[in-house]
Amino acid sequence: MSGTPLTVCVVGSGGREHALARALARSADVVVTPGNPGMTAEVAGHRITVTDTPAHEVAARLTVIGPETPLVAGLADRLRAEGLAVVGPGADGAMLEGSKAFMKRVLEEAGVPTARYGAFQDPESGRRFLDTLDPPYVVKTDGLAAGKGVLVTASREEAEADVVAKLSGESFGEAGRRVVIEEGLVGFECSIHALCDGRRVIPLAAARDFKRAFDGDAGANTGGMGACSPPPEVDDALVGEVMDRAVEPLVAALVRRGIDYRGVLYGGIMVTSSGPVVLEFNVRFGDPETQVLVPRLADDPVGLLLSVAEGRLGGDAPAFTPDAAVCVVAAAAGYPEAPRYGDAIEGLGEDGQLAEPVEGASVVHAGTVRGPDGSFRVAGGRVLGFTGTGPTLAAARERAYGAARRVHWPGMHYRHDIAGSVDAVAVSP
Ligand code: AMP
Ligand code: GLY
Repeated sequence: MSGTPLTVCVVGSGGREHALARALARSADVVVTPGNPGMTAEVAGHRITVTDTPAHEVAARLTVIGPETPLVAGLADRLRAEGLAVVGPGADGAMLEGSKAFMKRVLEEAGVPTARYGAFQDPESGRRFLDTLDPPYVVKTDGLAAGKGVLVTASREEAEADVVAKLSGESFGEAGRRVVIEEGLVGFECSIHALCDGRRVIPLAAARDFKRAFDGDAGANTGGMGACSPPPEVDDALVGEVMDRAVEPLVAALVRRGIDYRGVLYGGIMVTSSGPVVLEFNVRFGDPETQVLVPRLADDPVGLLLSVAEGRLGGDAPAFTPDAAVCVVAAAAGYPEAPRYGDAIEGLGEDGQLAEPVEGASVVHAGTVRGPDGSFRVAGGRVLGFTGTGPTLAAARERAYGAARRVHWPGMHYRHDIAGSVDAVAVSP
């Protein structure tokens, strides 16, 4: 590429989009819409800017859509109708995440291993289905609920009460007017991302996220409190098995339905004693998994994602560095129930990175604004992500926690056991 640098547009405003922007800025100028003020930067001679201009007006050479909501609402279709190259499925493919009942139907049709389930709109048939299951019980909103619409419980009463609260619209509004009830699976979880260009599909490195709010997997499910890649318990053979048993058959089913799926397929996988089972497919990059995947990507992300958007993926999986990466997410006081906004953040420089840098660590902004004096303030539940990379997971986590310890705001909290035990990290300097 020569002459004017190519421009890539990233849609979204969280930590995932910041991590994508930083990776794409290795070889392109990046415009993030709507972005957040912590993203603006110069990386390797390329600029990251944020704008309120909608994606179709940015009209970049490549547009990468981060969150599920605009995908479900058909943003990728509208941009493609204007001739733009887009990473992200149209509304037809995005239904996989927009309706869990639809996703389960397609998985069944494709013969993909997944938990036994039923979809219900009235509490009585939900109750009858619960009678056929052994604990733990799993109750999910059919529609989008920002990662928070899932209850896993050993208590039959709690499961029933949750079905009633969801169906009444009381707990999740319209998203809960239909519920999916599933058998609870036991095993360990991992996130397998793959890139699909409409026909071909290739895996990215394995990752793991940490969904619960507090140490030891205590507290409510959140949008994600941390991630690591590669997870120690996942090897290439397991990724291959997930591709063969789940991802490839899913893509074949999408093709049969006439869905031209160009974007990310992110499988939430439970590895059980009888092998990997799909919990869900998301239609976008994971957050915070992206924060640990893209720093490890050895290939140029711009070229790779352009080939996804343009339907010309090569057959080979992209190369990843042998380094490990760990991301620790720091949340606002009161998150996830009632996050408090406005607290002033200490420890960041003018550019939003650490005022006192830690080698091998970087910061992504997920929920910040600039106050009147130009300093950063809390403006979201998940506020910052600290990513460390290093030759081992232990080295990467030490860097991530080293970075987290250099930042402070009232009520800031993060888990101390991301990618390791609580004891392995000195909690205070
Ligand atoms: P989902 O949004 O479907 O990935 O669910 C969020 C989390 O709930 C998952 O990461 C699992 O920890 C848990 N979960 C979902 N479905 C099941 C299941 N069938 N059995 C056990 N845990 C589940
Ligand atoms: N890491 C959870 C998600 O992105 O849905």
